[in-house]
Amino acid sequence: MARIIAGVTSSHVPAIGAAIDNHRTHEPYWQRVFEGFERSKEWIAKVKPDVVIGVYNDHASAFSVEIIPTFALGTAAEFPIADEGWGPRPVPVVKGHPELAAHIAQSVILDEFDLTLCNKMEVDHGLTVPLNLMFGTPKEWPCKVIPLAVNVVMYPPPTGHRCFALGRAIRKAVESYPEDLKVVVFGTGGMSHQISGQRAGLINSRFDKAFLDNLSNNPQKLVRMSHLEYMREAGAEGVEMVMWLIMRGALDDQVDEVYRFYTVPASNTAVGHIILENRKKGAKRAAAHGRAKKPAARARRPAAKLKRAAARQKIDRVRS
Ligand code: DHB
Ligand code: FE
Repeated sequence: MARIIAGVTSSHVPAIGAAIDNHRTHEPYWQRVFEGFERSKEWIAKVKPDVVIGVYNDHASAFSVEIIPTFALGTAAEFPIADEGWGPRPVPVVKGHPELAAHIAQSVILDEFDLTLCNKMEVDHGLTVPLNLMFGTPKEWPCKVIPLAVNVVMYPPPTGHRCFALGRAIRKAVESYPEDLKVVVFGTGGMSHQISGQRAGLINSRFDKAFLDNLSNNPQKLVRMSHLEYMREAGAEGVEMVMWLIMRGALDDQVDEVYRFYTVPASNTAVGHIILENRKKGAKRAAAHGRAKKPAARARRPAAKLKRAAARQKIDRVRS
């Protein structure tokens, strides 16, 4: 059986792609951003997913103002890299998983999520930048990628509630696929930013950090957030964070936050990156068993200290 083992959120800022392509990742400005993903690259190299479902938004590359699908699933075997005005980015072609994608399409459409299916689609920085941040710059991407493009560019985008429910339906679809596959879901974009207008340059770190906390521990607090609230608190483009709720909906209610990174700025945005793992069956019992073996050490440590030590072990956070 295929299963979703983890979810990742990642920035998709185009300038990150330009920094990679123009060999500027070691400049202090960019180093700060890329360093935050070093541990993530180690994590994903260990996890070795067979398939990534990449929830992202197209920036008028595959679509345009003429055709605006709300949810578009990539069912092709290959997704060429789009030319965004200065030639396609020099990154590998994205290889899909047509069989799993077709299975997801059938399952979620019969569950009444009427996706657009794309048997031919070019992908832009919205998908390739997150792949770079997580996998670096390999000759070939190390796994299959199923793109899921979400309209967050033209009003009206889907609600967070709908996105979360779609995540749930995708999870059901993946879990009914007979082949043993490890799947990781990427939610991309964000965090707070506004590119134009009077509030251009807006960053709201307090909102972003609370969003990350809730994404991890209390996603139900986020699913009913209105578009207006996203835009008021996180800027006009902050609304693209609804995509993260597809990822979160595809995970268990209870997850382990294994990594978090937050930095400002990257181009116009706050970068928010989090890795959430579905709890392995029996992991809780095993951990409790491990602790029970050391009663003496436990007795010496006051409760608050114990709690902090447990939190440090569980959540590996990097801030800059
Ligand atoms: C930038 C950020 C985005 O999320 C985007 O889609 C385009 C540009 C920026 O920070 O420049
Ligand atoms: Fe964006």
